[in-house]
Amino acid sequence: MQNSATPFIPPHPTLATLPQAAQSCRGCDLYLHATQAVMGEGPATARLVLIGEQPGDQEDQQGRPFVGPAGRLLNQALDEAGIDRNQVYVTNSVKHFKFEERGKRRIHKKPSAAEVQACQPWLQTELSLLKPELVVCLGATAAQSLLGKQFRLTADRGRIFPHAWAKRILATIHPSALLRLRDSADRKREFTRLVHDLETALSGNVFAPE
Ligand code: URA
Ligand code: SF4
Repeated sequence: MQNSATPFIPPHPTLATLPQAAQSCRGCDLYLHATQAVMGEGPATARLVLIGEQPGDQEDQQGRPFVGPAGRLLNQALDEAGIDRNQVYVTNSVKHFKFEERGKRRIHKKPSAAEVQACQPWLQTELSLLKPELVVCLGATAAQSLLGKQFRLTADRGRIFPHAWAKRILATIHPSALLRLRDSADRKREFTRLVHDLETALSGNVFAPE
């Protein structure tokens, strides 16, 4: 059988029970080496959902999404865009950390398309419980998980798409991509674009009914 989290989703899931339920997921092999599954976090009333790629080293240890360096940068961008992180639900496309060991360090490794696909039932469950107005995909992994493999961040960044699991979806750069930029002017420019994309998300009247 193809890898899938589907058999591990509880029959009557709630946002409160998902984190525990995901600990017994064997939907793909990533559970083998990670510390724990990291489910999304945020209020059930959240109208905006942010989706990253997968937990990083610190997220894997703490069991919470976006608490490491990328999370700090994300918090700064949300702040500048006037978005309160406490009112946003933050999650990932893949719930277990995939890494390569280099000496003592664990280096992030990109999840395969099959792993993203296997894990998607958890993401779909989160979104079906939240029914958000808007989803912001952070980076190509999340964008391709929701919008299809042909999605190109370079071409479609910042554009708003309709979607079955949320009223609207928008994709922007992943904060980790900013951390990899060596040139500080590049970093600054890309950070400004990230803030701008988050503002675009809000200006679509996310919090008002259609
Ligand atoms: N990068 C992600 O995509 N998600 C996290 O939770 C942390 C870093
Ligand atoms: Fe299950 Fe997702 Fe973890 Fe794979 S990465 S074991 S599908 S929770």
